[in-house]
Amino acid sequence: MLTPNLHYQELHDSYLFARIAEKTAKYCDEHPGTRLLRMGIGDVSQPLCPAVIAALHEAVEDQARAETFHGYLPECGAPFLRETIAAYYGKRGVAVAPDEVFVSSGASDELGHILDLFDTSAAALIPEPAYPAYVDANVMAGRRILHLPTGREQDFLPEPREIPGADLIYLCSPNNPTGAVLDRERLAAWVALANRTGAVILFDAAYEAFIEDDALPHSIFEIEGARTCAIEICSLSKTAGFTGTRLGYTIIPKELVRGGMHLNAMWVRNRTTKSNGVSYILQKGGAAVFTDAGQRQVHETLRIYKNNARVMGETLSRLGIWYTGGKNAPYIWMACPDRFTSWEFFDTLLREVQVVGTPGEGFGKCGEGYFRFSAFGNSADTAEAMHRMEQLLG
Ligand code: MLT
Repeated sequence: MLTPNLHYQELHDSYLFARIAEKTAKYCDEHPGTRLLRMGIGDVSQPLCPAVIAALHEAVEDQARAETFHGYLPECGAPFLRETIAAYYGKRGVAVAPDEVFVSSGASDELGHILDLFDTSAAALIPEPAYPAYVDANVMAGRRILHLPTGREQDFLPEPREIPGADLIYLCSPNNPTGAVLDRERLAAWVALANRTGAVILFDAAYEAFIEDDALPHSIFEIEGARTCAIEICSLSKTAGFTGTRLGYTIIPKELVRGGMHLNAMWVRNRTTKSNGVSYILQKGGAAVFTDAGQRQVHETLRIYKNNARVMGETLSRLGIWYTGGKNAPYIWMACPDRFTSWEFFDTLLREVQVVGTPGEGFGKCGEGYFRFSAFGNSADTAEAMHRMEQLLG
């Protein structure tokens, strides 16, 4: 008889955001007409910017005419988009060749797929609290996980330290869920460590566009030595509102070699086998993000989210509640008040003021006692949610 993948038995019954969605749907069913304020999942509220919309329309028109129609595109990405993304890195002084850029359908998809490059005997070191898909994707593959808890005493930033057997190292900066950002020094220490031990860093840069402080690195490839030990995974979801549109990119340097095998070449082999690429229309829309107009417009939208984060931070300060994040990041990570557990606080906010956030425990055991708010809502909802919370806790 066929044996299914038994590792699925080691997963929680449901994925964190699915559990939140279930609980909120149940509440709404039982309380029809409720105006729920959703600040749980980091899904964007603002529409795609005009430059992207115009490019998407043009691309649809291209597909309507024989002379401009495109069928299959190269599996690793259309040359025009790979070149555009390489140039985006170049503007920041980071040399990336177009054939080191792989266009993907989004960072979360890619974070799962990329594990194909590594043997299942490779253990994954995951600093926590962490985006739960890092853990779940490795559990599904039967990989050993080394949890690296972080806490308030180190601002939720993982201390670089050699942990025997850590073959894959996940780093996310700006961090989901804590909003903590790795500075150059700490990131350089991780890079040195990976080069020393032969580990590969999977660097999740999905929130890089939120960085305002020039001293902070947007990309791990700003750090010397990263080309021999890191893969960077990025997305237009949070940068440009592509959560429902789906587009991302991955950088794999040609110098990244393990066991005599080039990971860039392996990924070409993987993509050409397992994918027919991302649609022409979406890649045209994605390229528009990197034009001057696109950059100006996406940063106008990011200002709305940054302002939401500021409003949330000010509310928590007034309430005397400890929090971090929200400065170079779209997430606020707060201590649960009144010794609530994070799920108790979730239930209380939902029941009493109809505000939805994300319980810290969903990001790992060390997230217990903390709670995450996303700044991706619209401004009116964010202000209203903070007003309701202040009334409840003030
Ligand atoms: C989150 O809320 O953590 C993110 O939206 C999840 C994601 O990007 O898939």
